[in-house]
Amino acid sequence: MKFSIFVASLCLLCSFNLYAQKSPEELSSTCLGCHGVVSYNNIYPTYKVPKLGNQHKDYIISALKAYRSGERSHATMKAHAANLSDSDINKIAEYFSSFKSSKNTIASEDLQMIDEANSCVGCHGVDGNSIVPTFPRIAGQYEDYLYQALKSYKNGERNNAIMTGIASTLNDDQMKKLSKYFASQQGMQNIDQGRVASKK
Ligand code: HEC
Ligand code: HEC
Repeated sequence: MKFSIFVASLCLLCSFNLYAQKSPEELSSTCLGCHGVVSYNNIYPTYKVPKLGNQHKDYIISALKAYRSGERSHATMKAHAANLSDSDINKIAEYFSSFKSSKNTIASEDLQMIDEANSCVGCHGVDGNSIVPTFPRIAGQYEDYLYQALKSYKNGERNNAIMTGIASTLNDDQMKKLSKYFASQQGMQNIDQGRVASKK
């Protein structure tokens, strides 16, 4: 009797332990159904699911916490973030941010900076590879996602003390130009299933 209780509690302990020890790959497997597919679309409105590879860890953490709390609204992302603990979020962020770009910055002589970007570079860097880890890397991100993000800050669907103010000063044409400019730089990476397998 005593022995079976002992065995039962041991099993409970180890299953709990297994759950707590989920690897980043296991935690991220459902995410890859969207984020691991190159040029996968969000529907209504249509824009590409953002790239996460090589994003700053701190920014991924803050984005996931914002979806989890409802501060940032997106039904699917809220559902996915809802069950993540702080420790899960930390592991996922570490994992996605580890997909480094072979070329993080563009040689300055190759950079054709556009005037519109002058007000962005202080935070996001001249080519969109921000140095401060809480400012997202936007270099090489999908153009239509960047445009969607700027529009959402402007129309209030997405809120951020800094970006709401900045986007309110931009017209549609400027948002399009800026999205194109930052998207054409090197930085963000796709996390395709093949690379995930080879990274193990
Ligand atoms: C059904 C598709 C889908 C799945 C599954 C999914 N995501 Fe997302 N994710 C999206 C879309 C679409 C967005 C952009 C939403 C928006 O506009 O705010 C997004 C945004 C994000 C962002 C913010 C990116 C940025 O640049 O601000 C992070 C971080 C993220 N997802 C992580 C995850 C993680 C971690 C998981 C798994 C636990 C996951 N996602 C599962 C579709 C998905
Ligand atoms: C004072 C610093 C600052 C400046 C200047 C700034 N940004 Fe940002 N930007 C941020 C921060 C912080 C965030 C993350 C906000 C959030 O969590 O929603 C952000 C988010 C973004 C995003 C969303 C990225 C994503 O992955 O979802 C885009 C796009 C963006 N900025 C573009 C721009 C552009 C274009 C400019 C210039 C017109 C600009 N930013 C100027 C700090 C700045």
